[in-house]
Amino acid sequence: MKKILITGGAGYIGSHAVKLFLEKGYEVVVFDNLSRGFREPLNILKKSGKLDFVRGDLRNRSAVEKVFQKHKIDGVLHFAALCLVNESMENPGMYFENNVCGSLNLLEAMKKYGVEKIIFSSTCATYGETKYLPVDEKHPQIPVNPYGESKLLVEKMLPWYEAFGINHVILRYFNICGAATSGIIGDSKKPSQLLMQNAVRGAMGIEPFAFTCAKVKTSDGTPIRDYIDVEDLVEAHLAAWEYLEKGGKSNVFNLGNGKGYSVKEIVSEVEKAFGVKMQKKQSEARKGEYAKIYADPQKAMRTLKWKPKKSLAQSVESLRKWYEKFPQGY
Ligand SMILES: NC(=O)c1ccc[n+]([C@@H]2O[C@H](COP(=O)([O-])OP(=O)(O)OC[C@H]3O[C@@H](n4cnc5c(N)ncnc54)[C@H](O)[C@@H]3O)[C@@H](O)[C@H]2O)c1
Repeated sequence: MKKILITGGAGYIGSHAVKLFLEKGYEVVVFDNLSRGFREPLNILKKSGKLDFVRGDLRNRSAVEKVFQKHKIDGVLHFAALCLVNESMENPGMYFENNVCGSLNLLEAMKKYGVEKIIFSSTCATYGETKYLPVDEKHPQIPVNPYGESKLLVEKMLPWYEAFGINHVILRYFNICGAATSGIIGDSKKPSQLLMQNAVRGAMGIEPFAFTCAKVKTSDGTPIRDYIDVEDLVEAHLAAWEYLEKGGKSNVFNLGNGKGYSVKEIVSEVEKAFGVKMQKKQSEARKGEYAKIYADPQKAMRTLKWKPKKSLAQSVESLRKWYEKFPQGY
């Protein structure tokens, strides 16, 4: 069976990809420095297939090369990155060094060891201010923070490696929510940066949830975003992998639902599921806060034959199960 290297596989999204690829019978090698990820999901997932874990840092080229020396890797899912917008504004250098130099080391090692497929986790933050909606892949990319810029720089590096036979799929995610349906793994960030996670924790009484968000020009006055469940998201990675396996050429896809939900709608969904009412407070719009962003995911649906399946209610339910098992994270 094919062997896949998953960088950042100890993190939130990466660990869900590890789970799916193991379930599909792939051998998986996780490379992660555990700066933001956890050993526990890998210990849990070890039972479901052939999984190796290498603790290492992408900024260390020889550590990256060692993985390719030791394992005959068929392809790479590249999730490892720092991904906090505010942190990137305070420390841009750390973001460029980690996300850009780390990815460069990975690409150079792939080139050296003849590994020809990479799926790269990018973000809607590469688009910056929306010029039109829904956002398709041709939308101008003018990031407004170093995090988005660091991802765009990697997007720009990838095509230059096609000359060495390395084909890529760039997946630009919108907002992620949910956990594994069974709740065995999930998002362990404390507090999470993600709205639905925090709202569920609030509804379960694990942590107070302060519904404070910017007042913007939408029908209910709260920002509209595109939410995609983490299991649907990793299914798209499998579809992208199969696309490359079948000889598909380098490509880029948005991954979203194609539907915007307001912050208020997400919180109401959580309130409905738990039968609670949460405190709501709104503040003035922060500078640079967009009122609305949502994806046009048609290209991914058409080309990868992929479609998000989980409803908001199912994502909330998966989070309930995850936080019942791990109220404080791993
Ligand atoms: N979570 C989201 O809402 C979201 C949205 C769009 C894009 N993304 C992208 O998806 C990917 C995964 O995000 P996530 O939410 O799972 O984040 P996460 O922080 O949970 O996972 C990232 C993992 O990468 C590891 N890592 C970071 N730098 C590393 C390095 N130099 N060497 C080795 N390992 C390193 C961390 O330890 C962590 O386990 C990221 O590339 C992120 O930019 C996430």
